[in-house]
Amino acid sequence: MREFVYYSRTAPTSGSYIKEDLQESGRIDIAIHTVIATFFLSHKIRTDAKLHLIFAGPPTPPRHLEMKPVTEGKTGIDKIYLAKKDVSSIIKKMLYKYKEGEKKEVFPGFWIEKKGLLELAEELYKNKKNLYILDPDGEDIRKAEIKENPVFILGDHKGLPQKEFKRLKEISHPISIGKKVYFASHTVAIVNNELDRREI
Ligand SMILES: C[S@@+](CC[C@H](N)C(=O)[O-])C[C@H]1O[C@@H](n2cnc3c(N)ncnc32)[C@H](O)[C@@H]1O
Repeated sequence: MREFVYYSRTAPTSGSYIKEDLQESGRIDIAIHTVIATFFLSHKIRTDAKLHLIFAGPPTPPRHLEMKPVTEGKTGIDKIYLAKKDVSSIIKKMLYKYKEGEKKEVFPGFWIEKKGLLELAEELYKNKKNLYILDPDGEDIRKAEIKENPVFILGDHKGLPQKEFKRLKEISHPISIGKKVYFASHTVAIVNNELDRREI
């Protein structure tokens, strides 16, 4: 299982903050593209990936939205119908359904709770996951060893938060997909492709 952690300092933490203009809604468009890059193959949803979205925007940060879509069973009962055009409404509903003090499963395989980036990273590290920070100055992914159950952490349009970066670097290994700076979602697509080719 590969996991991605996408951090957004501006993505809203209430459903009511997501308006029709997704770019103006705390750049939630980037999170949506990241969801699509994580899970969508042509005519297929990946079963080998999990995505963690950490939203640190207004009004009540942080929120941790965890996604591991269920693909088996009856649609509407065991799983939800997942289409690219529905991702923003799924995120909106997850934010609305948040319950204080709970990790709430809003749809099969879609959970929401209050948790920040560092708390999540420390938890994954404690659970013996192999953490990698996606960073243009890191080790070239084509040469790097990628261990089992890798977790890739990536930032928003402004990168990863400076305050947490020092500790993140202590518990993870920096990996680069090249010298150019790519969109977060493109970075996920490239990492997915690299792992597919290695059959990890
Ligand atoms: C649009 S980029 C962020 C750009 C931001 N101005 C910065 O300097 O970090 C979004 C995220 O994608 C990842 N990323 C982009 N290009 C990358 C590369 N060449 N190698 C590894 N990760 C990359 C990083 O995690 C980055 O935080």
